[in-house]
Amino acid sequence: MEQYAIKGGNPLVGEVEIGGAKNAALPILAASIMTDDTVYIDNMPDVRDTKVLLRAMENIGVVCRHENRHRVMLNAAQINDLVVEDENIKKIRASYYLIGALLGKYKHAEVTLPGGCDIGCRAIDQHIKGFRALGADVRIEYGMIKTRAERLVGSHIYMDMVSVGATINIMMAATMAEGMTIIENAAKEPHVVDSANFLNSMGANIKGAGTDVIRIKGVSRLHGTDYTIIPDQIEAGTFMFAAAVTKGDVTVKNVIPKHLESITAKLQEIGCEVKEADDCIRVVASKPLCHTQVKTLPYPGFPTDMQPQIAVALALSKGTSIVTESIFENRFKYVDELTRMGASIKVEGNTAIIDGVERYTGASITAPDLRAGAALVIAALAAEGCSTVDDVRYIQRGYEDFHLKLQGLGAQIELVESEREYQKFKLKTG
Ligand code: EPZ
Repeated sequence: MEQYAIKGGNPLVGEVEIGGAKNAALPILAASIMTDDTVYIDNMPDVRDTKVLLRAMENIGVVCRHENRHRVMLNAAQINDLVVEDENIKKIRASYYLIGALLGKYKHAEVTLPGGCDIGCRAIDQHIKGFRALGADVRIEYGMIKTRAERLVGSHIYMDMVSVGATINIMMAATMAEGMTIIENAAKEPHVVDSANFLNSMGANIKGAGTDVIRIKGVSRLHGTDYTIIPDQIEAGTFMFAAAVTKGDVTVKNVIPKHLESITAKLQEIGCEVKEADDCIRVVASKPLCHTQVKTLPYPGFPTDMQPQIAVALALSKGTSIVTESIFENRFKYVDELTRMGASIKVEGNTAIIDGVERYTGASITAPDLRAGAALVIAALAAEGCSTVDDVRYIQRGYEDFHLKLQGLGAQIELVESEREYQKFKLKTG
């Protein structure tokens, strides 16, 4: 079984190129099937979740061809099945985007219920509410979500909570509905805006993405496009916190600094120096880190997808910090693993009370989910001695070449497949 072998203690120093945003790439891939014309997508991250979605799309007849590692050509003129049952598709959350895309274009879709990281109850009632408001019949049967409509008609939809997935899904279906749809209390994340921009580049008429009211005037046809996905805000934030935790000096390149404001603000609060340029940000951690409080919130608040990474930094910061998770109720599963590395954290409900310690020490740990897995790798990079991180498949869902990019910053990290390889790594790294 693959695991990361890590020898901690080196400050990360240097530059790292950030890839395309996974959480924009997934809805954009799904939306590409809404036209019969050819679509080109650039800056596509080469991660497990996008591979799974691409395979499921190929299985229903979409032609997908990689022009290079990060540029893909798609043509959905020959879709031959509106039932998506791919065995792997239920492992990813974003499978639900195929419902909005297929429903919009064909007025019919049947997709295996979505899975994804086990970070809490991940209901889809808001997606269903939106599809029904547009006139679709929606049923859940035999582990599938089945939707069908004679016609889709624009509607006024008030979201009961801010949901990235439901906002994008309803936006996709409404793009090809008759008349005007208004989504109130919409999510404002950069990937919502990127999905809207992509649809607009195909001829959709979507206004207001990035605010909490999105207006969509339905069109009868979408056309081909050539589109570049935005940089991954969370990958960038992860490397920025890796700089803080290892007392390093890292420049993340190819980013949109505006998308990283809440992350930058917290890094400054805990004592890092952060310098912004047009499309890169440098984080220097030369002083001891200090405590703070943070609560995860929908964008532009501090992202839930950065909660484990900031907690790993705060657990090495002077004083007592408080981290409140307000989006997913099961996102502290990494705390036990971090405790095994020496952290002092008490979780009460959706709050973690963190007493900063001087250092982490290496341990054998397991990645419980994507972002927590990445955060534990960062902790191991700061720890004294060697660590192993198991279940790296979670991390590979959303980080391209994670260990290679870390190696480029001077980290001692390797992907090993056996105890023998791990022992060799330990000998090599002293
Ligand atoms: C997206 O998940 C991301 N996933 C998540 O990233 C991210 O953590 C999350 O948004 C929040 O930013 C993808 O984009 C594929 P939500 P999503 O709908 O769309 C509740 C990562 O690590 N809710 O915004 O599933 C829900 O339970 C992943 O990259 C309902 O109650 O999140 C949650 O408490 C993990 N009913 C809150 O809303 C619904 O119908 C926000 O969920 C929908 C959501």
